[in-house]
Amino acid sequence: MQWNLQRRSAGRVAWAVVVPSALVMLPWSAMAQEAPDGPPSAEVTFTKDIAPILQQKCQNCHRPGALAPMSLVTYEEVRPWARSIKYRTGLRDKPEAMPPWFIERDIGIQQFRDDFSLTEDEIAKIAAWVDGGAARGNPADMPPPRIFADASEWLLGQPDLIVSSPSFEMPAQSPDWWGPIGATPTGLTENRYVASVEVKEVAEPTEPDGAEPAGDWRTTGGRAIVHHLAWMPVSAEGRPLPEDEGGGIWPLHEVGRNPDVFDAEAGRLLKAGSSLMFVNAHLHAIGKHTRARLDFGFRFHPRGYRPTKRFVGLNVDTRLLDIRGMEANQKFEGFLVLPEHTKIIAFEPHMHAAGVRMCLDAIWQNTAETLSCAGYNHGWVRTYNYADDAAPLLPKGTILRSTGYFDTTPANRNVADPRNWTGLGHRTMDNMSISILRGIHLTDEEFEEEMAERLDNLGLADGQTVIGCPLCEYGRAVQAVVTSGQQ
Ligand code: HEC
Repeated sequence: MQWNLQRRSAGRVAWAVVVPSALVMLPWSAMAQEAPDGPPSAEVTFTKDIAPILQQKCQNCHRPGALAPMSLVTYEEVRPWARSIKYRTGLRDKPEAMPPWFIERDIGIQQFRDDFSLTEDEIAKIAAWVDGGAARGNPADMPPPRIFADASEWLLGQPDLIVSSPSFEMPAQSPDWWGPIGATPTGLTENRYVASVEVKEVAEPTEPDGAEPAGDWRTTGGRAIVHHLAWMPVSAEGRPLPEDEGGGIWPLHEVGRNPDVFDAEAGRLLKAGSSLMFVNAHLHAIGKHTRARLDFGFRFHPRGYRPTKRFVGLNVDTRLLDIRGMEANQKFEGFLVLPEHTKIIAFEPHMHAAGVRMCLDAIWQNTAETLSCAGYNHGWVRTYNYADDAAPLLPKGTILRSTGYFDTTPANRNVADPRNWTGLGHRTMDNMSISILRGIHLTDEEFEEEMAERLDNLGLADGQTVIGCPLCEYGRAVQAVVTSGQQ
């Protein structure tokens, strides 16, 4: 694909920044030239080498009753998929890659929380195993099976408060629908600060007259009729709350999305007597008449907790989309100037079916630096949470640039009709291009403290810097001057 070439040249800009050797992640093109650590291909076996990888990186979805279309637990189950596994894992960050983690390894920040991507060594082992005939190996080498939590369990543990939306229904066949779906009182009698929120869709097929549905409805995709839902806490009377009373932007719920953990110092207020208002849901039909609701699981900070930092949601949005049919490598940019010093905690590319890649750059004092690039597959909504010592620390005045890449050729299998022109819109067949970001705003003092901590934790000398911290290289003495003088 053409955008590969652009990616390489963009990569040079980012890597030209002084990066201490301990932090350098080799571009994978360079890594690929090194011999993998594993044994020669003839000795790679399922029981010894492959089963542990599948347990760790695949079976949370690929096991009986879970999300994925086939189980990858036993040798008998895995063997027929060997070629497909080699192909999908070898795609790395391209839209159909498995596991569905699309951060590009040769550009931008590389440290994330909950990174479940494969290492180069694991990818090489899988390829060697398949090329060597996909041998079973010695049954005695097989690791004990991995035990998983039930699908109904909460990933972050039992919530302190569960708020259910009203239930709603979608006919078997229907155009997409979007609109408000009501409100539910939280029932809270005291103010609490939210540490995390996890949303589960509880969907069941139902005939309009309440009769049991016929046939097997539990196919992939049969679990959800909600594509996404914008929601927010409101007052008991249903009025918007000011930001310091827990109003403002809360993370959008999207199908397949991981839970949100807020910065520990920037817990969100959920007010006594508030309700959750489900402002705008986007529903789609799945071939069976379905009734569903959304359960919101809140985990709270202990009573008495007070946040010391301010959470902020930012959208770097592109509204002027003019996407032609039958054309790869179309790109559109959007910009946002940061009004305050900001630590960016999470990057979530948001596009629709034609989207295949998104990049986020920070432009500061005439220098553009790529923070992250990720492949995009509209079948997968992913949020990438930066690791603590890697989250971008950007001075106010930084310009964020979000670049969405679109492919409307038949090579992008998500596009229903490659011939169509599309522009901005809500429907899946329309398009969007937004870098959805979560972060915290920092005062001058907090910003300097964060940078000092970063330099200490990473052991950087004056003059050295890392990706995503344009002021780090100035050294502690100069930072204070530059920070307060920046517009
Ligand atoms: C987060 C859940 C998840 C994880 C983790 C995951 N998969 Fe998948 N996988 C899916 C789903 C859902 C599909 C079907 C939709 C798609 O292709 O995107 C799929 C499809 C596939 C396919 C293609 C099947 C076909 O019909 O051609 C292969 C091969 C595959 N996965 C292998 C793997 C391997 C190997 C791993 C681990 C290295 C892995 N997956 C990790 C959910 C997952």
